[in-house]
Amino acid sequence: MRAVRCETHGDPELLMVRDIPEPVAGPGEVVVGVQAASVNYPDVLIVADKYQVSVPTPFTAGSEFAGTVRAVGEDVTGLRIGDAVMGTAFGGAFAEKIAVPASALSPVPEGLDMVQAAAFNVTYRTAYHSLTTFGDVTAGEWVVILGAAGGVGTACIDVATRLGARVIAAVSTPERAQACRDLGAAETIVYRDENLKDRIKEITGGGADVVIDPVGGHYSEQALRAIAWGGRFVVVGFAQGDIPRIPLNLILLKGAILRGFEIRTLAQRLPEVVDRGRSAIATLVAEGMKPHVSEIHGLDEAPKALARVAQRQTTGKVVIDTTR
Ligand SMILES: NC(=O)c1ccc[n+]([C@@H]2O[C@H](COP(=O)([O-])OP(=O)(O)OC[C@H]3O[C@@H](n4cnc5c(N)ncnc54)[C@H](OP(=O)(O)O)[C@@H]3O)[C@@H](O)[C@H]2O)c1
Repeated sequence: MRAVRCETHGDPELLMVRDIPEPVAGPGEVVVGVQAASVNYPDVLIVADKYQVSVPTPFTAGSEFAGTVRAVGEDVTGLRIGDAVMGTAFGGAFAEKIAVPASALSPVPEGLDMVQAAAFNVTYRTAYHSLTTFGDVTAGEWVVILGAAGGVGTACIDVATRLGARVIAAVSTPERAQACRDLGAAETIVYRDENLKDRIKEITGGGADVVIDPVGGHYSEQALRAIAWGGRFVVVGFAQGDIPRIPLNLILLKGAILRGFEIRTLAQRLPEVVDRGRSAIATLVAEGMKPHVSEIHGLDEAPKALARVAQRQTTGKVVIDTTR
């Protein structure tokens, strides 16, 4: 089968499409025929060996997919050949087939096609839990989303507006700002050209109630300085590359709450919250919530697709369609 292989850590352009043996379903595992797989920023970091966890080469890239069950291993219950499923894995998704533990899969919800399903889980669960479980957002509040035109960012705009919050989308270019307005952002800030702190204060009057930060770098402190008293600041990621050092007096003076969110370990740490979140997210999907997919590429174009994400040239989600 064809698979996108990382044989040398580095830029996405180093990825190669190779023929490798098909996976086999071990005990507790399921083989999925991958129809679509989406690019998440951590895929870029893993290929570059800049992720929190180092993956030795060679490996197949890709962490999120949707497709059809092709084989079921011993001890697997509740899944049958032909079922439409979506799932996440620590590598292996940019390929025609993947073997994963059955627990990594869930049914494709009604209302999402395979491309949308492949683009849904990571960003929407991140958006939902960072806004609600960790950000305690309520209707009418001002929510600032950094990197708002990206995968996590666009999902945050979607979920926050559906929860009745007022979104301020912070992005690098006017074109990206327009994309965020099209998705429902009430206000936008082009942080490349405008002072983030001053503009947040100007728009909100009293400051932001919640900041969702998947970007890091120098924007984090600027956004925190514009948070209202009692505001919540949720650390989601560091797409800019730099992990900021925050003066803690800002937290004291603002009575603010600073929380970190990590999807990888959420189900282990807060299983009941994840269960409740699953049904809340399902309700939003039934009401029409779906990811903003801006580009679909074939498997051979996966290196280019990852490079475009790494270079901030895409909005929303980029999907690899393995059938192309
Ligand atoms: N904590 C978690 O559980 C979790 C889950 C998923 C993702 N994440 C993290 O969240 C971040 C966003 O992920 P994503 O999949 O949404 O990525 P993405 O689609 O590439 O979006 C990232 C956004 O960050 C902005 N950005 C600012 N400086 C950047 C730089 N130097 N390089 C690249 N982008 C830059 C870009 O928007 P502008 O050009 O408009 O600034 C871009 O749209 C990543 O750091 C990822 O690791 C964390």
